[in-house]
Amino acid sequence: MNTLEAVSRIEGPNIALRLIQPSDADYVYCLRLNRDYNEHLSEVHGTAEDQRSWIIRYKAREAALTELYYIVERRDKIPCGTLRLYNISPPSFEWGSWILDANKTRKAALETAVLAYRIAFDALHLEKAVFDVRKGNGKTLAFHRRFGAIETHQDDANIYFTYPRSKFKDAFHRYRSELENLDGSAA
Ligand SMILES: CC(C)(COP(=O)(O)OP(=O)(O)OC[C@H]1O[C@@H](n2cnc3c(N)ncnc32)[C@H](O)[C@@H]1OP(=O)(O)O)[C@@H](O)C(=O)NCCC(=O)NCCS
Repeated sequence: MNTLEAVSRIEGPNIALRLIQPSDADYVYCLRLNRDYNEHLSEVHGTAEDQRSWIIRYKAREAALTELYYIVERRDKIPCGTLRLYNISPPSFEWGSWILDANKTRKAALETAVLAYRIAFDALHLEKAVFDVRKGNGKTLAFHRRFGAIETHQDDANIYFTYPRSKFKDAFHRYRSELENLDGSAA
């Protein structure tokens, strides 16, 4: 199995990440337009068809393993969010486009983060995540701080973090049992 095949679908106890397909365009477009989720995301321009074309163009970056865009789905295959690893350039990568919708399972945020880091650290052998969160996005800031992300700097709009591979091993074992003890039901 080559690396792209190995990262095309990764499963946790209650959810899986699978690589996006052009047929996911409508789902992603509606998700990004939904005001419940898009307050802290970059503005959406264009149509669902533009989103489909964007996914088709993205597939070249996926093949080069510089960007991996995932649909989060439940065990019953109902989609419940998105997550993207981008600017993958050893030793680092960024992650974002992180949205979980009303169909998410309990602790889906924790499980998606663990799965994203497994892809980055175990499958792609990267060393560190770097990412930024808007200052007003209190929930996301709280999540990353609780997970152990290290704040590096800030500007007027954003707080910048890093999360190194060395921290993940302990976290993985701690969170795995927590996630395995959930029943996979919706949040
Ligand atoms: C960002 C986002 C995906 C986070 O998901 P969330 O469900 O709000 O995340 P939470 O921090 O509430 O965590 C969810 C659950 O995991 C648990 N959890 C979070 N971190 C944990 C940790 N370190 N250890 C144990 N449990 C943890 C929480 O207690 C909560 O449990 P529950 O499901 O039983 O209530 C979601 O808020 C979202 O889609 N926001 C809109 C888009 C957005 O702003 N994206 C981020 C752009 S940078």
